[in-house]
Amino acid sequence: MDSYAATVARMPALRAAVAADPQRHRVLTGERPTGPLHLGHLLGTIVERVRLQRSGVEIMVVLADYQVTTDRDVAVHLREYVRGAVLDQLAAGLDPQATTFFVHSAVPALNQLLLPFLSLVSEAELHRNPTVRAEHELSGRALSGLMLTYPVHQAADILFCKADLVPVGKDQLPHVELTRVIARRFAERYGPVFGVPEPMLTDAPDIPGLDGQKMSKSRGNAIGLDSTADETAALIRRARTDGERRITFDPQGRPGVSALLSTAALCTGRAPQEIAEEIGDGGSGLLKKVATEAVNTFLAPHRARRAELAAEPGLVEDVLNRGNERANMIASATLDEVREAMGMRY
Ligand code: TRP
Repeated sequence: MDSYAATVARMPALRAAVAADPQRHRVLTGERPTGPLHLGHLLGTIVERVRLQRSGVEIMVVLADYQVTTDRDVAVHLREYVRGAVLDQLAAGLDPQATTFFVHSAVPALNQLLLPFLSLVSEAELHRNPTVRAEHELSGRALSGLMLTYPVHQAADILFCKADLVPVGKDQLPHVELTRVIARRFAERYGPVFGVPEPMLTDAPDIPGLDGQKMSKSRGNAIGLDSTADETAALIRRARTDGERRITFDPQGRPGVSALLSTAALCTGRAPQEIAEEIGDGGSGLLKKVATEAVNTFLAPHRARRAELAAEPGLVEDVLNRGNERANMIASATLDEVREAMGMRY
């Protein structure tokens, strides 16, 4: 069984264990602030965070700013993207009192864990990471030292706060696996400081972008949570479909049409086939109308809440200041333990 299959198989037991005693668990999760969050983030991961929090699990969210520093186009917007990510998660229902939002760059002791952790992995292991390879290829740039080692940095994100649960999609699974390896090797070499965290795969189905490919801002196929209803309508109007009047759900043969059906389905909780049948011979025009309506109706409360929160002066700054402070406290305590375990007490 490969590790993905093993993780899937483990999920029911893990979920049951968490539900039985939510207070004993801590989730570390996060994202790279490389652009505005989109519908895929909301349905794929944020909704799950809110669900876990409401069940009583502690949530820590890293806005991984040191993981985007190689991209100059993004760097000029970092502040805005970090702010937007906090707003969207608060609007989605994460409790600002109970969630620790923090950025890498404000937590030096977290970053320092990178040094001992780097000593526990080989160069060959780093080069084998399939997600790093795929991201490197997509980037069309030379592989930077940071890109090669970012999974180790991610291990520091997870281990500094001794999170035991890491909700991830399939592409991030290799990083959690490396984190587990690092935790085990650290224990073997220096003694018990870190537990071995578990990946938690989200139940959410893959959310296609408007062209049927993975939803991502860089592909221009994503419905931004910060966009208006009119911008969403315009984006969907421009989506590529085909000339066939009869609307059918066929992700392989008709990716554009099917992506719109999937999007409408996810936003209404209905089956894509059912929506296709209803549209029948209505063609792409009607399909786009239905999809636009579904998305805008679904996102209306989120957008309204987001706008309210955005209008509160100092809110995001307060949330981040508090989160950074708490993350620093935790990271410093962990770094002390690490120094102690490594004999670095002078
Ligand atoms: N690399 C993750 C992504 O691209 C973001 C991330 C950074 C993360 N640190 C993390 C996710 C720790 C989970 C745990 O989406």
